Amino acid sequence: MTWLITGGAGYIGAHVARVMTDAGERVLALDDLSAGYPARLPAEVPLVRGSSLDGDLLKRVFAEHEVTGVVHLAARKQVAESVAQPTRYYRENVGGLATLLDAVAEAGIRRLLFSSSAAVYGNPDVDLITERTPCAPVNPYGETKLAGEWLVRAAGQAHGIATVCLRYFNVAGAAAPELADTGVFNIVPMVFDRLTRDEAPRIFGDDYPTPDGTCVRDYIHVADLAEAHLAAVRRLSSADAGGDLTLNIGSGEGVSVRELIEVIGDVTGDRRTPLVEGRRPGDAPRAVASAELAARELGWTARRGVREMVESAWRGWQHHHGG
Ligand SMILES: NC(=O)c1ccc[n+]([C@@H]2O[C@H](COP(=O)([O-])OP(=O)(O)OC[C@H]3O[C@@H](n4cnc5c(N)ncnc54)[C@H](O)[C@@H]3O)[C@@H](O)[C@H]2O)c1
Repeated sequence: MTWLITGGAGYIGAHVARVMTDAGERVLALDDLSAGYPARLPAEVPLVRGSSLDGDLLKRVFAEHEVTGVVHLAARKQVAESVAQPTRYYRENVGGLATLLDAVAEAGIRRLLFSSSAAVYGNPDVDLITERTPCAPVNPYGETKLAGEWLVRAAGQAHGIATVCLRYFNVAGAAAPELADTGVFNIVPMVFDRLTRDEAPRIFGDDYPTPDGTCVRDYIHVADLAEAHLAAVRRLSSADAGGDLTLNIGSGEGVSVRELIEVIGDVTGDRRTPLVEGRRPGDAPRAVASAELAARELGWTARRGVREMVESAWRGWQHHHGG
């Protein structure tokens, strides 16, 4: 099989490309480089520079490289931006997916993995979020991921494409410093950013109904996440692949914001006292995955802990930001 990874030069895409290549899969990447870096890709992975919104380009790439499966990660992913620019998010994340699925169907490709998000759930009031927990996204980004899942399943049924949707929880860490996330949109880089500016980390609300009053989240090391993609791709490649599968990809462990900041303090050696500010609208007290279905269906579970995640993210931060 030959797999096309859209968004392959991105933070997660480059990890997936590396894990798949190391495991002997034939891989190429398509990326418009709006947020990606070619240098992240392994030398043996060809990069096509272009957009997954370009149906003619996709058809050409599928034919020229005899693509037999697609891992679709290319998307816009910033919640605040999605609130400010909802039409752009629907156009690129949902409209772009429709273009991709048309090209996939026309090329006779029968395997597709879609990168979804825990944002599809919104803020459910449950201890562990299972795949049966009702989806109620609270921002346009989450809506586009949920609509994307619907579209993937419907097109899969219509065209006989076996599909897997992976709902990632809070992704952090790096398999190598040069692969690290360079954006400052998630809590780990946000805390690094504060410390680098000689400012105390911020905690938004410490009066939640959680053990230490701060929000609890499920953090997944990007190297574990990439291995989940390999397991899903292997399952899609198997002779009896068919139907659709939707899986949470998380560790199943809850870590509070205060606990995470303590680990960051240990790793960076900067243990200044966090500033406690008011709650942010829309933050759920707790969002932790049940990771049982992924274990059962893919034989995959997260292996790396929060400390390893933070250590690797810190090496990546220093690589990209000096210090
Ligand atoms: N990082 C997270 O915490 C997280 C959590 C849940 C889901 N996701 C999803 O995972 C996927 C990858 O996220 P990431 O963190 O690696 O983000 P990223 O921005 O680092 O990677 C996305 C890549 O896609 C490329 N891209 C964007 N639009 C494109 C287009 N139309 N055509 C071709 N390339 C395009 C960008 O240049 C970038 O290299 C996204 O679909 C995102 O929604 C990420």
